[in-house]
Amino acid sequence: MNKPDALPGIRATLVQLRSFEAVARLGAVGKAAAHLHLAQPTVSMQLRELAANTGLQLFEPAGRGLRLTEEGALLRDTVCELFAVWQRFEDELANRRGLKSGLLRLAAVTTTEYFLPELLGPFAQAHPGIDIQLAVENRDAVVRRLRDGGAELAVMMMPPTDVPLLRRPLLENPLVLVAPRSHPLAGRKSIALARLAKEPRLAREEGSGTRLATDQFLSSRGIVWEPRMALGSNEALKHAVAAGLGLAVLSRHTLGAEHPGLIELKAVGFPIRRQWFVVWHKERRLSRAAEALLAAWP
Ligand code: PGA
Repeated sequence: MNKPDALPGIRATLVQLRSFEAVARLGAVGKAAAHLHLAQPTVSMQLRELAANTGLQLFEPAGRGLRLTEEGALLRDTVCELFAVWQRFEDELANRRGLKSGLLRLAAVTTTEYFLPELLGPFAQAHPGIDIQLAVENRDAVVRRLRDGGAELAVMMMPPTDVPLLRRPLLENPLVLVAPRSHPLAGRKSIALARLAKEPRLAREEGSGTRLATDQFLSSRGIVWEPRMALGSNEALKHAVAAGLGLAVLSRHTLGAEHPGLIELKAVGFPIRRQWFVVWHKERRLSRAAEALLAAWP
């Protein structure tokens, strides 16, 4: 095993190597000195010391400037590698420090609350210094946050088209038609959409993406089925359906085992196949924490 005093004999200082690299790159001591904000005699002295310490002739005159000798070129390549390794170290350090503290502002539509905390878990554990603020709201409110910078990243099903955004698909979001378990249509196959109009429809509030996606689906099929009652949360909607007040369209992710009173109906075109995206503003620079979260997500 090497003892500390048996380290490889680097007979040069980092300062000398930095001056040497600048002269090699710029071809003249004067230019290198200006580039490094040093006096020209200082750079000349560092080159002389480096040559003496290494026993190498590094440059030879070429016109009014200097040219690297063969050994000088070898040293230049070695120094470039050394500096690249050092740069990687500095980048890594900045990265780690950047993720040591800070605030990550997220917004997500209400339907994602059933899985998003789990998706955030590993990131939160890996970066305990980062505070995470997660606003859970309906689609309209999430769009407002994206527009005014209140959230860096948002998770939603239907990104708006009037805000310049970048997006990445995150997860499937099948929208299903639910009824109370005892409903006469339960267990029937291929229920015609026109038949649904005879049933009272319960829906999320205006501004909800689930509501918007359902309305768009129905109108694309030429079906008029207006909601009889609007409820402001997925949970309220599930309870209202289970209580027999009507049928509703919900994200399948909102239905847990804890609602044995509900059943999915097999209506034509259901489930409505949609997906969630993670989106961010195209013209705003993401924080390091937001970039790290994006890199960590599938
Ligand atoms: P929301 O969510 O109904 O809570 O607005 C819709 C979505 O998944 O984008």
